[in-house]
Amino acid sequence: MNMDELKRQAAARALEYVRDGMKLGLGTGSTAKHFVELLGEQVSAGLKVIGVPTSEATRADAIRCGIALTTLDEIDRLDLTVDGADEIDPDLNLIKGGGGALLREKIVAAASDRMIVIADDSKWVETLGRFPLPIEVIPFGLAATQRAIGHAFAECGVSGPMVVRKRQDGHVFVTDGGHWIVDAHLGRISQAKHLAGLLTAIPGVVEHGLFIGLASTAMLAGSQGIRVVERR
Ligand code: A5P
Repeated sequence: MNMDELKRQAAARALEYVRDGMKLGLGTGSTAKHFVELLGEQVSAGLKVIGVPTSEATRADAIRCGIALTTLDEIDRLDLTVDGADEIDPDLNLIKGGGGALLREKIVAAASDRMIVIADDSKWVETLGRFPLPIEVIPFGLAATQRAIGHAFAECGVSGPMVVRKRQDGHVFVTDGGHWIVDAHLGRISQAKHLAGLLTAIPGVVEHGLFIGLASTAMLAGSQGIRVVERR
């Protein structure tokens, strides 16, 4: 089974948790896109839900699939968010933001009673950090912000190159919020929670891709089937 089929299986499993009338956070990325498409099929069959998309790309997908949308200004809490991840550790802490939507993804996840993360099982790691950590930054004062980020890394005993994300055409990647992303190649983040707090406190950092304590359930699709992991 190829990776894309595994992603779709994980998405299909998460769909089993959706109930009529739910308010849903809709994630971003290739795995979350499967969820949106499968959800759209259920909506066509009569399911009534309302969604908050975590990116302009997901907004377009959801509209194409006939899913009714709202915003966090119009409603209070979401019942459930289903989203992908770049890495998942045994405490269900995550690295997200490979697709650049980490800011809206974190706002939506934090406004949800439950977050289910869906992925193929290659995303499962013992320790976060092999995937470069995305850090969303304000372009103004970037060098100063990067120096502050470097100090935070040193305090947590990690180091590695920081690379401003570029698009394939060579231009700087700009997020839906108009910010830039610095990808930090750290290898291994042993103090993820501590690092998350330090990064949040840096003025030029808008958000970072460490999702600590947000996911409650992971659905990991592999060749042996789907493993459901609940947060300890
Ligand atoms: C988007 O910004 C990311 O957080 C994605 O959720 C993450 O990169 C997973 O994407 P895939 O499902 O495409 O691997």
